[in-house]
Amino acid sequence: MKFGFHILTMAALLLAGQVSSAMAANKFSAENPPKMPYKYALGKQKFTQFCAKCHGEWGYGTRQGPPFIHRFYKPSHHADPAFYRAPLKGVTAHHWRFGDMPPVPGITRKDLDSIVPFIRWLQRENKLY
Ligand code: HEC
Repeated sequence: MKFGFHILTMAALLLAGQVSSAMAANKFSAENPPKMPYKYALGKQKFTQFCAKCHGEWGYGTRQGPPFIHRFYKPSHHADPAFYRAPLKGVTAHHWRFGDMPPVPGITRKDLDSIVPFIRWLQRENKLY
């Protein structure tokens, strides 16, 4: 009886371990930022200014917007033009339940010329593609 109880406890602990590793911590965070090539510095700065509020400082999403480290946003599914269109024109909610993405005030194509390569770099660093 006692032995059986231990087996169950062990199984529960093992399962808990698997669940927590499936929800593994994001690769990057404020405490653990990536080593970023200098050429992405401007993109990162503008991403922080214009996108991070909703998509997260390192693209993992927030309560206000989806993660970019997600198969939906691979280049094969959302190619670069979508990354220009969304901030310039806004997006009607269709993939998620965060609501619409409003056009980003003050954003320009030139800003996106540095933001988009930064997002792609972030996706590759996270082994998304
Ligand atoms: C106010 C919050 C907010 C801000 C700021 C924001 N987004 Fe979004 N974004 C969203 C939400 C919400 C969606 C999800 C829409 C849906 O349900 O598909 C989204 C979706 C997207 C998509 C997917 C578009 C599509 O065609 O499906 C792209 C690309 C995107 N955002 C890029 C950006 C970029 C780049 C920036 C910064 C320049 C940015 N967003 C800033 C909220 C935001």
